[in-house]
Amino acid sequence: MNYLTKKTVKDVDISGKSVLLRCDFNVPKDKLGNISDHKRIDESLKTISYLTNNGAKVILCSHMGKPNGKYDKKLSLAPVASYLSEVLKKDVKFTGEVLGENTERIVNSLQPGEVCLLENLRFDSGEEENSEEFSKKLASLAQIYVDDAFGTCHRAHSSTVGVTKYLPSVCGFLIEKEINAINRIINNPQRPLVAILGGAKVSDKINVIDFLLDIVDIIIVGGGMSYTFINALGYAVGESICEIDKLSFAKDMMAKAQEKDVKFLLPLDAEIADKYSSSANHKTINADSIPEGWMGLDIGPKTVRLFSEVISDAGTVIWNGPMGVFEWKNYEFGTLSIAKALSESKAVSIVGGGDSAAAINKFGFGDKVTHVSTGGGAFLEFLKGKELPGIEAIEDK
Ligand code: 3PG
Repeated sequence: MNYLTKKTVKDVDISGKSVLLRCDFNVPKDKLGNISDHKRIDESLKTISYLTNNGAKVILCSHMGKPNGKYDKKLSLAPVASYLSEVLKKDVKFTGEVLGENTERIVNSLQPGEVCLLENLRFDSGEEENSEEFSKKLASLAQIYVDDAFGTCHRAHSSTVGVTKYLPSVCGFLIEKEINAINRIINNPQRPLVAILGGAKVSDKINVIDFLLDIVDIIIVGGGMSYTFINALGYAVGESICEIDKLSFAKDMMAKAQEKDVKFLLPLDAEIADKYSSSANHKTINADSIPEGWMGLDIGPKTVRLFSEVISDAGTVIWNGPMGVFEWKNYEFGTLSIAKALSESKAVSIVGGGDSAAAINKFGFGDKVTHVSTGGGAFLEFLKGKELPGIEAIEDK
């Protein structure tokens, strides 16, 4: 599934038309309700500006979080409207509701080049149910549908699939960019192709590991999930996160790697802590002998050296998942070092998945890699070669 045949916003006449633009404004907020990472919004600006500059009346919509069909002030898109007004330097009219009289009034009064934003679509249960009625009503606001919500294209909801039944449907520049970047890596990678997987759980990545073993030359496993593999080799992992029910899967994957001549690299050493806390006692130790009462929360310096050398010699690198609890100073070294190694490598590099994308941006290397995907689940599904209903629903050229 490469989706290279999908129509884009350049394939339709949008001048003077009302355009429903689905974005992924599912961005994190801090305790005060302020947006703490604007990347997903910033990535949608190219399509919004193209539409306004070409005389479209733009109706923006998105989800945020999982409000389960009910209003939740903490998940309101109001701060997104304020931020967009600031960066677009024009008033983005916020409807304060998903559908209703106010939305209709604002949408009907839009002039070419103007923009409005609907409230969080998931405040209406029809969105996630992909209800016919909700899809029809949403579609009735516009004449053309543009999908630019790459992060949500693995969901078959009203605003990603349902509306395409009623409107000419094309994708925006962000989806086009993500498709091109990920295809480039899957279809024609410069070798050696290296995959770095991290994050807490093996169970989140089962199909991904299996799929990657068919295409990569080297696989690096770090982060919390590495302890299941280390334990599967018969070594003690103390209190480290370890999925006992995935031990045989881990063994199978290491056997598959051997069969396919794929180098399978695990941490040599770890930064361990005596409790899961940012202020725990901690020390560096070989990863194959973590004592009882201690848990691995980051990779150690020998591992960083090994992984960095591999990254430096790579032709292409895919990175998904942090190497440790990078949010805590004492355990950020591994993830920070991998981000740095990637930024210094000449390899084509793609970073995907919410946490690794957040990490590379936090450490300031986001613009030093080839592509940072805005997708979490969607990125992994695409990588696995699964169908993405939101892109599937877009018309072919
Ligand atoms: C994401 O953050 O991965 C997307 O916005 C999709 O969100 P969801 O997992 O709540 O559907």
